[in-house]
Amino acid sequence: MSTLIGIMCIVALLAICISHYWIMIRWRNPKFNNKNKKILPPGSMGWPFIGETLHLIIPSYSLDLHPFIKTRILRYGTIFRTSLVGRPVVISADPEFNNYILLQEGKLVELYYLDTFSNIFKQTGDDQFRPNAAGLVHKYVRSIFLSHFGAEILKTKLLNQIEEFVERTLFSWSNQASVEVKRAASEMVLNFSAKQIFSYDAEKAPFDLSEKYMKIIDGLMSFPLNVPGTAYHKCSKDKEKVTNMIRDMLKHRQNSPRKGHEGDFLDQIISDMDKEEFLTEDFIVQLVFGVLFATFESVSVIVALAFQLLSEHPSALQELTAEHEAILEKRENTNSFLTWDEYKSMTFTLQVINETLRLGNVAPGLLRRALKDIPVKGKGFTIPADWTIMVVTSALHMSPNAFEDPLAFNPWRWKDLEQHVITKNFTPFGGGMRQCAGAEYSRVFLSTFFHVLLTKYRWTKIKGGEIARSPILGFGKGIHIKFTNKHKIMVH
Ligand code: HEM
Repeated sequence: MSTLIGIMCIVALLAICISHYWIMIRWRNPKFNNKNKKILPPGSMGWPFIGETLHLIIPSYSLDLHPFIKTRILRYGTIFRTSLVGRPVVISADPEFNNYILLQEGKLVELYYLDTFSNIFKQTGDDQFRPNAAGLVHKYVRSIFLSHFGAEILKTKLLNQIEEFVERTLFSWSNQASVEVKRAASEMVLNFSAKQIFSYDAEKAPFDLSEKYMKIIDGLMSFPLNVPGTAYHKCSKDKEKVTNMIRDMLKHRQNSPRKGHEGDFLDQIISDMDKEEFLTEDFIVQLVFGVLFATFESVSVIVALAFQLLSEHPSALQELTAEHEAILEKRENTNSFLTWDEYKSMTFTLQVINETLRLGNVAPGLLRRALKDIPVKGKGFTIPADWTIMVVTSALHMSPNAFEDPLAFNPWRWKDLEQHVITKNFTPFGGGMRQCAGAEYSRVFLSTFFHVLLTKYRWTKIKGGEIARSPILGFGKGIHIKFTNKHKIMVH
């Protein structure tokens, strides 16, 4: 009997070893299913299921390209394969190929989020809304978004509103011993954007929206394992609370007469519900959630990094301050609102913003899904259909071929850079059809923030500012700033 059990154990062990070996071989050497001799890009698939995910999320403590990408570019070249959170991925840091892929939306590729992202963004009902909603739906969403955040409304309405909002925010910051600016700036931009979207008022809201978004972001880079106790599970619960709040508000507006929110983003969508079939309740809830998400972690990272970089580069801070003081000096009434022409005259401010965007790499990689096999010109290999493609714009931002001494904060470099170098290598807001619809809004917000800050406040860094990239930029202990009002008044 014991001999039989022994034999069975050995057979079981052998079976496990063989299947493990077979899985490893198959996993690490994926092949095309056809006989056309197509070759995959070089690279490694790591371990079954987890692939090389852990290497990617190990934090690095510099503004440089994440070591995961950097070491693999050195080993395999600018286009290589890997596996992340259960998906086969091709990573590209090749300028020509990146630009080509971004222009192939809807033809060779479609927008894609890794499973953690897609599950968090997925519609709960009829699954009609996907982030890659094609054609007409995307066109509608982009156009309604731009009518509430685009250049025209920024010029005619939002510029002044942003200035007032920033003034109030900075005034409240100046009444505190110190402020952790990354967190506080996220709240500022989210609250202002939510005001445009559904007339959100932080003081009357049932819960702190920015706190919920903060927790959702924490869970996003986690493994998509929906088991109580995991970061992903908590993230899903917080997302549910936010979407329930949006859903309640939507129902309330549909059932009761309009008041106090006429003309906001949500109001316009509700009035379009009769015309556009895809505007279901679930679609609208996910859209509002997604737009708020886009506002939360982007501008605030640039605000926080700018504080850190300017505190390390007094000459840049001096030139930036001088530019804003000169705007006041040229005015008849120092207390009047910023004008669009004044905003457009902020040359050095734009250089500081560009340089901070370049070093900050808010979106280190853009994700697409291959709709069919995509041959990579001049390289001899092919990306299989259904694989994820990560377009690593950050690799170009940190390339010495385009930006001399790329790790240096040098806002003056933008004076001399040729337009074709910028177009090809500087894409902080992405490119093609999916290019960031909030790009101008972000620039206006940042420029106005600098204007109010530098003309009305003095600031000193108290502590923090240490970089932690995983691969999204963060600051280990935040950045703590003390603000002092130069005039002790809030002007507007
Ligand atoms: C520093 C600030 C920001 C950066 C660096 C940034 C970056 C990006 C990037 C790279 C994309 C393209 C994603 C892709 O192709 O996969 C994108 C798309 C988008 N962003 Fe931003 N973003 C910023 C701020 C904002 C803000 C504040 C908003 C909203 C108010 C916003 C709204 C959007 C929207 C709606 C899209 C999707 C556009 C489309 O699919 O047509 N962004 N952003």
